[in-house]
Amino acid sequence: MEISVIAAQSLDGFIAKHDLPGTDFTSEADKLHFRRILQTFDSLIFGRLTYEVSRAAIRARLSPSLPRFVMTRNPRAWAGDAVYGQLEFVSDTPTALVARLRDRGFRRCAVLGGSQIHSLFLESNLIDTLIITIEPRLFGRGVPFLHQCIDANLRLESVERLPASDSLLVTYRLAKSPDV
Ligand SMILES: NC(=O)c1ccc[n+]([C@@H]2O[C@H](COP(=O)([O-])OP(=O)(O)OC[C@H]3O[C@@H](n4cnc5c(N)ncnc54)[C@H](OP(=O)(O)O)[C@@H]3O)[C@@H](O)[C@H]2O)c1
Repeated sequence: MEISVIAAQSLDGFIAKHDLPGTDFTSEADKLHFRRILQTFDSLIFGRLTYEVSRAAIRARLSPSLPRFVMTRNPRAWAGDAVYGQLEFVSDTPTALVARLRDRGFRRCAVLGGSQIHSLFLESNLIDTLIITIEPRLFGRGVPFLHQCIDANLRLESVERLPASDSLLVTYRLAKSPDV
């Protein structure tokens, strides 16, 4: 199973600006890239805080062809939002969740943040690629890309300028242990 983190960040490494939740800072070029790249995945994972910020938009786009899995320690609290096969709330470890998705036949999963979920999956050595839009912005403060200390080595796979923008799309690959 191929698992990718898809995110947009400021040049100084923040995925949300200052105290403002959400991704309003991202460029039109990134929004277009994001919509397109999601079509290449068969399952999406994000954290409960990211879900809450984008709840209305996520619920409006539910589809059995692209199920969403929301990580929370309290899935029962979200039972009213859950739609099996489209929007599921899970308290599994990342490793258990990935094993479950693999058993259900999913092959390409996008991890869509936020910071806590990026860290959880990277610490568990479950990520194959990071597909990151670097926006030409500096925030100084905000939600960082990662929530915890980590020391990971990456290999650059590609870098491109998103069309008609000053945004860079960079793809890095991580080494992954053979037993995952
Ligand atoms: N620019 C981007 O690309 C991008 C992408 C995504 C998000 N964001 C932004 O990032 C911010 C949210 O990021 P965040 O780091 O604060 O929150 P987050 O990662 O979206 O969600 C954190 C939540 O995930 C759940 N969680 C964490 N560890 C878990 C575990 N071991 N097992 C099960 N559930 C677990 C917990 O939910 P419970 O508290 O319910 O247990 C926790 O509160 C928002 O502002 C969002 O807009 C930006």
